[in-house]
Amino acid sequence: MLAIYWKALIQHKSHIAVIQSEGVSLLASEMTAKIADEPQTIEHLQNRLLDLGGVINFTIAQPHIGTNLREVLQNDYELQKNARTGLNKLIKEVDELGDATTRNLIEEILADEEEHLSWLEQELNLLEKLGEPLYLSKRM
Ligand SMILES: [Fe+2]
Repeated sequence: MLAIYWKALIQHKSHIAVIQSEGVSLLASEMTAKIADEPQTIEHLQNRLLDLGGVINFTIAQPHIGTNLREVLQNDYELQKNARTGLNKLIKEVDELGDATTRNLIEEILADEEEHLSWLEQELNLLEKLGEPLYLSKRM
């Protein structure tokens, strides 16, 4: 999960820069708010891993940085869907180990990520329904 989270942080931060540079400041600040928890998530995951006697050792997956509004939302949506799958898998794994503390931690993270995912889904639906010019006028 650390590999996914570092990738996510890089991708989300880069996307905020892309959106900001296009002057879509309301959307950029909403995106910033949605990822506010993610550095803490990385911290919590790393601390838990170290507490369990593990070592921090991973390769960051390739971020998919979009170059326009639609790509930004779409790539973040795909990333969030993968994160949800990964977190649910992790819950199963820690369940098999009988590790309730890690399960609680992952469940909290999952709840945040479900919210992030449904926000991205809503934005993509709005973009689809309104078309880009009208959507942009509401997110500037
Ligand atoms: Fe997220």
